[in-house]
Amino acid sequence: MSQDNRTILVTSALPYANGPIHLGHLVEYIQTDIWVRFQKLRGHDCVYVCADDAHGTPIMLRAQQEGISPEQLIETVGQEHRADFHDFHIDFDNYHSTHSIENRELSELVYQRHNEAGHITTRTITQAFDPEKQMFLPDRFIKGECPRCGAADQYGDNCEACGATYSHTELKNAVSAISGATPVEKDSLHYFFKLADFEPMLRDWTAAGHLQDEVSNKLNEWFEQGLREWDISRDAPYFGFRIPGTEDKYFYVWLDAPIGYMASFKHLCEQSGRDFDAYWGKNSTAELYHFIGKDIIYFHALFWPAMLAGAGLRTPTAVFAHGFLTVEGQKMSKSRGTFIKARTYLDHLDPEYLRYYFAAKLGSGVDDIDLNLDDFIARVNSDLVGKVVNIASRCAGFIYKRFDGVLSQTCVETNLYQDFVNAGDIIAENYEHREFGHAIRKIMALADRANQYIDANKPWVLAKQEGQEQTVQDVCSVGINLFRVLITYLQPVLPRMANAVETFLNIPAMKWDDIGTPLTGHAINKFTPLMIRVEQEKVDAMLEDSKDSLGNTQGTKGAAEGPLKDDPISETINFDDFAKLDLRIARISKAEHVEGADKLLQLTLDLGGETRNVLAGIKSAYTPESLEGKLTVMVANLAPRKMRFGLSEGMVLAAGPGGNELFILHPDAGAEPGMRVK
Ligand code: 2FM
Ligand code: ZN
Repeated sequence: MSQDNRTILVTSALPYANGPIHLGHLVEYIQTDIWVRFQKLRGHDCVYVCADDAHGTPIMLRAQQEGISPEQLIETVGQEHRADFHDFHIDFDNYHSTHSIENRELSELVYQRHNEAGHITTRTITQAFDPEKQMFLPDRFIKGECPRCGAADQYGDNCEACGATYSHTELKNAVSAISGATPVEKDSLHYFFKLADFEPMLRDWTAAGHLQDEVSNKLNEWFEQGLREWDISRDAPYFGFRIPGTEDKYFYVWLDAPIGYMASFKHLCEQSGRDFDAYWGKNSTAELYHFIGKDIIYFHALFWPAMLAGAGLRTPTAVFAHGFLTVEGQKMSKSRGTFIKARTYLDHLDPEYLRYYFAAKLGSGVDDIDLNLDDFIARVNSDLVGKVVNIASRCAGFIYKRFDGVLSQTCVETNLYQDFVNAGDIIAENYEHREFGHAIRKIMALADRANQYIDANKPWVLAKQEGQEQTVQDVCSVGINLFRVLITYLQPVLPRMANAVETFLNIPAMKWDDIGTPLTGHAINKFTPLMIRVEQEKVDAMLEDSKDSLGNTQGTKGAAEGPLKDDPISETINFDDFAKLDLRIARISKAEHVEGADKLLQLTLDLGGETRNVLAGIKSAYTPESLEGKLTVMVANLAPRKMRFGLSEGMVLAAGPGGNELFILHPDAGAEPGMRVK
C-alpha cells in the first residue's frame, strides 16, 4: 500500500505579523495541513514548519501607531496566529518567527556566501523621502492626484480610477501618507542581488518538474522580460536585520522571509535532534515542498531557488501554488460581512466544517476557490452528517446494547470490505497529487455504498425478528468496519473527528495500512455524536459579526478601469491592431458599490452564458440601480487585472470628460449579450 518511507519537509507561506488570520489565509494552511497529515498517516517522516513574517515597514509603522515596540506587536499578533492555527487543527511541528536568532544567522550566512561569490552589487538610487518622518517612502505610502485623469487620493504608482500606471514622481501634489509632508527626492546606496547570474540554473530548474505547468508557463514570460537585479536593502528606520558591514542598511523583508523556513526548521532541530544539513545541505535526499499563494510565485520560483543555490544549499523539490478564496463569488468584503477572520468563524462554527468544505473544493491547480455559504451548509450536512456519521449512528447502538459492544468474529462482507480497501490506492494518489476534491468524491461514493448496504439489510427490522441476532451483529459490524475505513481516509481532513472515532472504536491512532484487516471480535465503546449539523443561524451570526469586526485588510494593488478624459484623437492604428480587440455586447446583470472605493462600481456582466466581474470607474455618473439590466459594450479580451479592490476581468466602454459627465455605450435594440462588435 504505502511507498517506502520518505523524509519530507513542508512549509506554508509565512503570514505577516501585523494582521489577523482570515479565511483566505486558511485555504493554504488547511491545504498544507491535510497533505502533511496524509503523509504522516501513510507512515512517512514528514515535518511541517512555519513562522510569522515579522519584518518590514508596515509592521514598524503599525507598532508606532499603537504606541508599542515592533517586538511587542509581533509577540501579540504571533500569539493570536498560533491560537487560530491551533483551533483550526493546523498541526505545525514548529511555528517560529522571522525575528529570531536562527533567522538572523542564516540570513547573514546566505548573504555572505552570495557576497563572496560576487552576486551582490551596490548602486545609488533616488527615492521619495518624507522629510518630517525622516524615512524613505515605499510607493504605497505616497498619495496624490493621478497625472492622467486627475483623480485625487491615488496611491503609489497606479490610479484606481483610470488604470494609469506611472512613477510616483509623476503624481501631482504628492504627500506622504504617514505625515502629510511633501516628499522630497533623496539618494541612497542600495544593495542588489544579481538574479541574472542564475539564469541558466533557473531556466533548468523551472523546467525540471518542480512547478505546476501553468506556473512554468508564467516563468517563461518572466525570462523573456529579462531577470532584473533585485533590491534587497532598505534604509533605516526599518524593522529587520541590519546588513553585515553596514551601519544603516537592512535586509528587505522578502530576503529574510523565505530563510525563515530554514530558521523555523533549525529551531526544531535544536529541540528534536534532527540533522539540519540532512535537509538543507546540497546533497540532501529529503524532499522539500513549499505551499504558497499564486501571488508570491516570483519570490519562490526565482529568487528563492537562486538564493539557495548560490549559498551552496539544496533547492526545493517542488513549489505548490494555489488560488485565492472568493466568498459568494466575490472578493471578501467587509461591508457584505464576508471578510471573515479565523477567530470570528471559530466563535460560531466547527473548524472541521471548513476543512471539509475546502478539501472538497481543492485541486492541484491555481484556480480560485469559492466559499458559497448555502453550498457550504448543504454539503457539510449532507456529506458528513447525513452520510458518514450516519453509518456509525445506525449501527453502533445495536452492537453496544445487544452484543456488549463486541463486533462479530468475522467481517461477513469480504468483497464489499475489500472494495473499500482497494479504493484506498486511488484515494491516496489523489491526496498525494493534491487532488483533494477527487479524493472526497470517491470517499463520499463509498459512504453512499455503505448506507445502501445498511438500507438493504435493515438491521432495525431484523432486530425485531426471532433468530436474526447473528445477522444483526454481522450487518452492524460490517457497517462499523466500513465506517472505520472511511474515517481513516478522512483523517487528514477531519483529525478531531478521527480522534473521537479512535476513542469510539477503541483503537490506537489510525494508520493508512491498518485498514487491511477489519476489526473482528473487538469491543467498541458507546457511540457519542461525532458532528452536529451546520445551522443557518450560526452562519448568519458569523457574517453579522464579521461586519462589526473590521480588522485591517491588506489591500491588493491595482487600479480600476475607467473613462478617458478629453484625449486628443490618438495616432492611427492598422486594421490588425483593431482586430485584436474583442468587443462584445454585455448585459449588466448586477451593479454594486465597492467598499472603500470612491469611483468604482462592481459590475457583473453577462456575455450570453459567461459572466465577468468588472470594476468600472463610473460611480460618479451612475447609481448601481440605474445600470442593472442595461446592455453595453465591453472589451472582452483584456487580460484580467488585479486591482486594489479586486480582480477586473474586462472593461466597459464609456464616453465623456469624466465626473458626472460619463456615458456608457448602449447598442441598438436587437443586440444580444455575447454578440461580437465589429
Ligand atoms: O505574502 C505574504 O504574506 C508573505 N508574508 C509571505 C512570505 S512567505 C516566505 F517566503 F516567507
Ligand atoms: Zn487616473
